[in-house]
Amino acid sequence: MDWTKGNVRNLILLVNVISYIVMMELVFATGNKNKTVEIARMLGNRFKLMGLGEIGCFEEIPETTGTIEGNAIQKARYVYEKYGYDCFAEDTGLEIYALDMAPGVHTARYAGEEKNPNANMAKVLEELKGEMDRKARFKTVIAYVRSGNVLTFEGIADGNIALEKQGMEGFGYDPIFIPQNENRSFAEMTMAEKNQISHRAKSFRKFLEYLDKEKE
Ligand code: IMP
Repeated sequence: MDWTKGNVRNLILLVNVISYIVMMELVFATGNKNKTVEIARMLGNRFKLMGLGEIGCFEEIPETTGTIEGNAIQKARYVYEKYGYDCFAEDTGLEIYALDMAPGVHTARYAGEEKNPNANMAKVLEELKGEMDRKARFKTVIAYVRSGNVLTFEGIADGNIALEKQGMEGFGYDPIFIPQNENRSFAEMTMAEKNQISHRAKSFRKFLEYLDKEKE
């Protein structure tokens, strides 16, 4: 009896080790460990997900194309070409219609190099002072480079810029972004509520659906 149990346990261990070895390696081109952990959880045991540190990439990857989509592609391509791994990268921007879709690709550094969210939000609110058209959207693009081919997955969250900051949750521009059909800002929602409708969650859901099909 014990002998059988031990054998079954060893067999399960062996299967796990083999499936780990044959699991496809995939790099997420981000230096943000929290994002890697979050996405690794979503990917489950489909892929062996690695961050930039794990492949020895510690330099700043250029983001110089001038568009959100272009920057996502540039980052994923950089890793593929320099390190030889299939890779995906993500880029996000806030686009405000009355500001000709600014800050867009400059979202993180809108008020300066220090990437200060409060200064960024203050700048947006100042620029929209007296403006009735407060329509805006968050856009995330994931670029996936597989064997040199590029695919992109876009997620959009439409909404409006609030008249003032609302709420304490979340990060970045969350306190001034009110998603469509809501009167609460992202910063007044739980993470689970935001994940139902956010730009990033939408793009990742599309990407994961694609990966599932690709593995079939
Ligand atoms: P990143 O591409 O994730 O680094 O984001 C670029 C900029 O957009 C940063 O300033 C972030 O704070 C901001 N940002 C990205 N996603 C969100 C979000 O879900 N809510 C609020 N701000 C965001």
